[in-house]
Amino acid sequence: MPDIQSIEMFPNGDALTERAVALFLEAARDAVQARGRFTVALTGGSGPVGTYERLARSPEAVDWAKAFIFLGDERFVPPDDARSNYGQARRLLLDHVPVPPDQVFPVPTGAASPAEAASEYAETLARVFGVTPGGPLPAFDLILLGMGDDGHCASLFPHMPTLAVADAWTVSSPPGTLPPPVNRVTVTFPVLNAARRVVFLVGGENKASAVKDIFEGGATVEQHPAAGVNPAHGTLTWLLDKAAAGLLAR
Ligand code: 6PG
Repeated sequence: MPDIQSIEMFPNGDALTERAVALFLEAARDAVQARGRFTVALTGGSGPVGTYERLARSPEAVDWAKAFIFLGDERFVPPDDARSNYGQARRLLLDHVPVPPDQVFPVPTGAASPAEAASEYAETLARVFGVTPGGPLPAFDLILLGMGDDGHCASLFPHMPTLAVADAWTVSSPPGTLPPPVNRVTVTFPVLNAARRVVFLVGGENKASAVKDIFEGGATVEQHPAAGVNPAHGTLTWLLDKAAAGLLAR
């Protein structure tokens, strides 16, 4: 179990976004105070859209000069493709805040293959975190995650071999069952569970069944990979809107 796990429920998406922004600001402030920089892995999907937009509207709220930005997962498409997670983060957030370009680390989707991109990304993690592959894990100050209807997170999909990877920080992942049907690159559970904070942003009725399975149905990691996110020495916060929490008994 993580040091601290909390589930917070909100009446609507705006309230959830407000809390996500507050947690982002707190994580950034704490990290800069403690270690002089803020390392964060962003997520794709619709979950973070409001959060990115809100952060972009108050660029002074984060010490962006000290931020180091990664993506927890990426679709294997060019950055200007509408399906690119980095492209979305750039359009909604990164283009609007003074983060130094050399502190932004998109997954290298120009690599020859998703597997090659994954291995290059692991090297980038090692360099920026000052660790060696096989040595201590890179510990992000914050990892944002969404969750798919099928309970996937990052690009860790149900019943896939990627769920069991313990000896690599990043791997390629074939498309899941949900759109878009593109190959992916994703961080693995060891990296997710080495983070100081993980925050899930989960909204919508289509998530309610997986949410119930995870919190009240004893879902396994194989069934709903999000159930496997349990930072060993960090905090885990689930932010749910009313619809996503709609099937929970408590
Ligand atoms: C991606 C993701 C993925 C996403 C979930 C939830 O590349 O699609 O990073 O893990 O977070 O699919 O997506 P929604 O927030 O759009 O439901």
